[in-house]
Amino acid sequence: MEKKNIDWSNLGFSYLKTDKRFVSNYKNGAWDEGVLTGDDQVTISECAGVLQYAQTVFEGMKAYTTEQGKTVIFRPDLNAARMADSARRLEMPVYPENKFVQAVTETVRANAAWVPPYGSGATLYVRPYMFGSDAVIGVKPSGEYQFRVFTTPVGPYFRGGVKPLTLRVSDFDRAAPRGTGHIKAGLNYAMSLYAIVNAHAEGYDENLYLDAATRTRVEETGGANFLFVTKDGKVVTPKSNSILPSITRRSLMVVARDYLGLECEEREVYFDEVKDFAECGLCGTAAVISPVGKIVDHGHEICFPAGMETMGPVTQKLYDTLTGIQMGRIEAPKGWIHVVE
Ligand code: PLP
Ligand code: COI
Repeated sequence: MEKKNIDWSNLGFSYLKTDKRFVSNYKNGAWDEGVLTGDDQVTISECAGVLQYAQTVFEGMKAYTTEQGKTVIFRPDLNAARMADSARRLEMPVYPENKFVQAVTETVRANAAWVPPYGSGATLYVRPYMFGSDAVIGVKPSGEYQFRVFTTPVGPYFRGGVKPLTLRVSDFDRAAPRGTGHIKAGLNYAMSLYAIVNAHAEGYDENLYLDAATRTRVEETGGANFLFVTKDGKVVTPKSNSILPSITRRSLMVVARDYLGLECEEREVYFDEVKDFAECGLCGTAAVISPVGKIVDHGHEICFPAGMETMGPVTQKLYDTLTGIQMGRIEAPKGWIHVVE
């Protein structure tokens, strides 16, 4: 199969229409079989639940070309489970988890020419999503839904690749206690746009959100979880019911413990203690691990020792091991790598 003629190494994190996408509709209480189609347009009621009341959830994962030349997807079963949790929280029907993995696999296979080659630094981002598609005017769940999966080749999420980021402590909150911060719903991102546009305008790469109840604990950024490293080499990640349970973060904790022999802790992290950490990074599918060089809290700067040019040593080891597993250079834990035959 011939790859598309794309300058893979210079891709950013943006949408590029690929050949095929998967579409399945839910009506009268059941999902249809679903089809792969070349049509990238969606036609729905002007009064659709997604348009009026933001009834939509999504997922994000990546497909890679390994060193051995295989196309693989990283832990899609966990995305299927998380999307099921998201759907339940927004009163949407669950798209069956096994069918989710099948749909993702078929979509990646149908876009094989768009899976970036090994060593290019790019990957194929896979975006499953689901939305209420029929008319609702009273505030209630839709009766009909559409589940879709599209793919797009991407480069690094943050411009500059793995250069350390500068964050600011946001004056806005991302998620309420007992709200929807733990699910992957469009509404959590719509409300973050004001804060991110403003952060960019002021020269910051991202916002660090504090917990809404006390504004003393570190939650996450708009699109990634935090990882910290203590001065004695322990990996620490914030525990909270209002952050997204990142698959990358959960995987990195296993990598840290089982591959690197590091002690790991998932616990509440107070903003007051951030200045004492040796390293800080953001982790997520899009972000992979992006090092944080500086956090600014209303003019007060916290600068991490590795500075603004390189990753800290533990962050680098975590990055190398995780990407090594994803790209087939390092043996993966059982079940982590889903091969697209
Ligand atoms: N937190 C938020 C708010 C996100 O949008 C994402 C991206 O998916 C993550 C964390 C990282 O999650 P994952 O590692 O599963 O991609
Ligand atoms: C991902 O990492 O997959 C995400 O969904 C983050 C998003 C903000 C691009």
